[in-house]
Amino acid sequence: EMEQAGALVLFGVTGDLARKMLLPALYRLTADSRLDLPVIGVAKTDLDLDGLREHAREACGGVRDAAFEKLAGNLRLVAGDYRDPATFERLREETAGKGFLTHYLAVPPALFAAVAEGLAGAGLNRDARLVVEKPFGHDLGSARELNNALLRHFDEDHLRRVDHFLGKEPVEDLMVFRFANMLLEPIWNRSFIRSVQITMAEDFDVRDRGAFYDANGTVRDVVQNHLLQLLAILAMDPPPSTDARAQLDEKWRVLRAVQAIDPADVVRGQYTGYLDTDGVRPGSTTETYVALRAYIDNWRWAGVPWCIRSGKALPTTDLEVVAELRRPPVTMFANGDAPDSPNLIRFRLQPDAGVTFDLLAKEPGKMHARPVPVSVDFTKVLGPMEAAYERILLDAVSGDPRRFARFDLVEESWRIVQPVLGLDEAPLPYERGSWGPVAAAEIAPGGWHEISTTFD
Ligand code: BG6
Repeated sequence: EMEQAGALVLFGVTGDLARKMLLPALYRLTADSRLDLPVIGVAKTDLDLDGLREHAREACGGVRDAAFEKLAGNLRLVAGDYRDPATFERLREETAGKGFLTHYLAVPPALFAAVAEGLAGAGLNRDARLVVEKPFGHDLGSARELNNALLRHFDEDHLRRVDHFLGKEPVEDLMVFRFANMLLEPIWNRSFIRSVQITMAEDFDVRDRGAFYDANGTVRDVVQNHLLQLLAILAMDPPPSTDARAQLDEKWRVLRAVQAIDPADVVRGQYTGYLDTDGVRPGSTTETYVALRAYIDNWRWAGVPWCIRSGKALPTTDLEVVAELRRPPVTMFANGDAPDSPNLIRFRLQPDAGVTFDLLAKEPGKMHARPVPVSVDFTKVLGPMEAAYERILLDAVSGDPRRFARFDLVEESWRIVQPVLGLDEAPLPYERGSWGPVAAAEIAPGGWHEISTTFD
């Protein structure tokens, strides 16, 4: 299951994801001498190989250097329809003798099953791994159907489901920070933590993705996958070892314990103007913002609200986790009528990476406590992070499963959000550039904490 691939087959090589993410990542990996293997692009396209090379050059910012020439030299093209067996016959000729194959499906999910079947028809599912992009299903039932369709031709050991958040180095920082330090683990539980807030804010709207977005909404787009994966990494018990299986098992165990979200713990929003977007249905009730509360029924977390909010057209683009500690049992240094602020532990994930502790210190001249941030910016201290798609591609080629979504985790996350998927009353309107509907404040006990200001 960890075979190193001898060639990468890239379905959708002329598509959006390849242009924006995969081709530039392949170029950087080539430039850093981390990847050097045949890349066989597959697409329904009029381009020939030279045309594809020029397309790739554009995708990589028009570069002209030795690294790009090397990548271009590795590129091949099989042009054809994904439902036509002849396409797969040509692919078989092109991949003959290349050894183990990684098939990467950067195509719409509606085509995943057809491509898997086409590959199997040409015997290209043997000695091969299948990597599929997101979204994986539309709900629990469709995710299972899709999975069964893929399992007909590839077993779980040879399937990889991309969740590019798992490729982000700051996300992995969480695990190291939690389990390499002794500081956090003793207090990382219901006795000391009052609540955890996860904020994924984006200051842009749905842009040209109206049709895609309208069929999904925030819960399907980022909560079911990215943010529940994040929750799992934050809430899981320490894995007994560092191997992939141990980590995936612990994530599964904690997701198993998360209650299905109660619709009463959800506020959905839609920014004004969304309905005028190309591809959005008239009167659509799709949410572009959601705030919700999840509860984990285990000894570590019972009763602690895990509050998640995400939305488009918000004031900033930030990804941050804030854990609020319980207050000291006796208030000694309150500022007038205001109680002491709680200690906060902030994990900063985007656009920078780091940790901030909001501690309390004596206000000069007074016997008051005032919050002061104690902060480390990982990039400044430790150097730049690797880019998500470079890591995803390397893992797709090497077979390391840890940065992909194993199916049992996907199933649990769909189960958790399932009660929210059916909500179709009109979401609450919010202005572009605001923090979403006012009612969302009630989701987080004591309100949402502001995003940290220490990384500006
Ligand atoms: C994608 C969603 O999965 O993740 C987008 O479809 C979202 O709506 C994106 O903007 C965010 O990813 P990143 O890596 O740009 O923060």
